[in-house]
Amino acid sequence: MPTAPTILFVGDIVGGLGRRTLLKLLPALRERHAVDFVVVNGENIAGGLGITPKLADELFAGGVDAITLGNHTYRRQEIGPYLESGKPIIRPANYLASQPGRGFCIVEKDGVRLGVVNLSGNLHLRAGRVAFLEIDNVLSELDGKVDHILVDMHAELTSEKIAMGWYLDGRVTAVVGTHTHVPTADLRVLPGGTAYITDVGMTGPRGGVLGVKKEQSIESMRTHMMVRFETSEDDPWLMGVVIRCSEQPLRATAIEQVLEPWRPAPQAAAGS
Ligand code: FE2
Repeated sequence: MPTAPTILFVGDIVGGLGRRTLLKLLPALRERHAVDFVVVNGENIAGGLGITPKLADELFAGGVDAITLGNHTYRRQEIGPYLESGKPIIRPANYLASQPGRGFCIVEKDGVRLGVVNLSGNLHLRAGRVAFLEIDNVLSELDGKVDHILVDMHAELTSEKIAMGWYLDGRVTAVVGTHTHVPTADLRVLPGGTAYITDVGMTGPRGGVLGVKKEQSIESMRTHMMVRFETSEDDPWLMGVVIRCSEQPLRATAIEQVLEPWRPAPQAAAGS
């Protein structure tokens, strides 16, 4: 393990197709990019909404080091105790203290310690505390305990994510935006040395509307009636970023986009 590790961060994994896409493509990506740490956003993995202990265990068994979440954290009730179990799965740090789980974790490999922090935007999303205030508390807690820090800013608005990137520039290794499921083309290392992207995108069906079957989404928008949404199974892609950490703590040297289709055999795409 080098002192300048490489992190693969994978954007919101949507449904079973997203999970299979990640697990199928991960070994080759790991080798191609010489990845040391794999962090994924898993809040949409259970049929598009939430995550279960079984699915989280599958991700860990498949080589994921840490899981971040977001506004769908508590969709599956059974996840509550799991979030308190000490495993590296985190919900936004700026949620209410009374909500199950914790907002950051530390994962270690061969002596390199990576702090992973989850935040929720405050605009158009329900989060009990202000992300810009809570992150200062989290960074104080992590001070001296980690070599690098990755922040997943799960937020609706581009402005809020860009502001968080600037606020943390030079204080953390990377700020990656999630939630909107559409990858943005603004990735770069900011002047202070923090790798940044406004949205990483999603891992799952690109042939739908943010993961939902396109016909159902169109029907909902066309008729303004209640439509039951199902996860699309069309055109799976993995979307993520590779972050090259610097030998200097809390700094990055590069960030590259990973936008990769998965072309499974028909039975593999339909399987569980
Ligand atoms: Fe979300």
